Amino acid sequence: MKRVLSGMQSSGQLTIGNYIGALRNFVNLQHLHRCYFMVVDMHAITVPQDPAALKEQTESIASLYIAAGLDPNKASIFLQSHVPAHAELGWIMTTLTYMGELERMTQFKDKSAGKESVGAGLFTYPSLMAADILLYNADLIPVGDDQKQHLELTRDLANRFNNRFGEFFTMPEPYMPEIGARIMSLDDASKKMSKSSPNPGSYIAMLDEPAVIRKKLSRAVTDSGREVKYDPQNKPEVSNLISIYSHFANMSVAEIEAKYDGQGYGPFKKDLAEVVVAVLEPIQERYREIRKSGEIFDILKKGAAEASELANETLLEVKKRMGFVLPS
Ligand code: TYM
Repeated sequence: MKRVLSGMQSSGQLTIGNYIGALRNFVNLQHLHRCYFMVVDMHAITVPQDPAALKEQTESIASLYIAAGLDPNKASIFLQSHVPAHAELGWIMTTLTYMGELERMTQFKDKSAGKESVGAGLFTYPSLMAADILLYNADLIPVGDDQKQHLELTRDLANRFNNRFGEFFTMPEPYMPEIGARIMSLDDASKKMSKSSPNPGSYIAMLDEPAVIRKKLSRAVTDSGREVKYDPQNKPEVSNLISIYSHFANMSVAEIEAKYDGQGYGPFKKDLAEVVVAVLEPIQERYREIRKSGEIFDILKKGAAEASELANETLLEVKKRMGFVLPS
């Protein structure tokens, strides 16, 4: 059995990109491995957050985890800020990270581009992410394609630590869906679908009403042709919609292409909305029940206690190896 860890930032609503790229795999992996899934609220504050919105988003994402099928008896589900070892190992990892490594991170370059003042936390973000992973000595990290570079840095930091202080950290591997590791915007297939986009028409939030989902998908940009064919190079918009369809309908790309052969985009886009709604509507219903019951707080308490046990043990060993005087 392997150890699995991942997280999502509470910096907005989850989109179907988060679902396809990561959350679906969280749900699958919980049956196979020892899993730790958190909401990374400490990462969310690397850009300014309104306190009321941060609280709401954090509770909302944790509840969506459960609504989407995560089982607190199979996986530990918790908030990053409830396990202080993350902040502590995060600092230690920052001291092992080179400025040049952080400067090369494309997520930092994207998020800081054109901004007059950029928080130092946004810059050191990947060191905290490395700590998240290494605290659990995780083997598999279910993420979308945009996190690959952060994972490479995590491996470099693990290696650096092991070389200096003795073999200790496991090398984590990304775990990504074959297609759909990078779901693109509905209005521009050269951009990643993102919950922080200012244009809500560019993404489908997991909590969008069915009528909104239908409208957004009917307006999704396509090329001027009519062939439903998976060809990311030449038909990026339609290929993106096929990826979404494939995940929500559990159909292969070939099956989808065959189904819409010669029919044009109209029927394809209409059915796409229905397959997305068919999966999201029951999740939304469960979500509302979970929010009403308040059960999430007990789940998070149990998850944090389970996560702390392993995280504190790792942190203690790291400190011992580095020469910290441990409390007696
Ligand atoms: P975040 O919150 O931006 O996204 C959460 C997860 O969703 C994936 N994702 C996507 N996958 C496919 N297509 C998309 N358009 C798309 N948008 C987002 C992301 O790849 C991610 O897996 N740094 C992380 C959070 C994090 C983390 C960790 C992840 C902090 N510590 C430790 C794993 C392990 C982030 O910003 O994800």
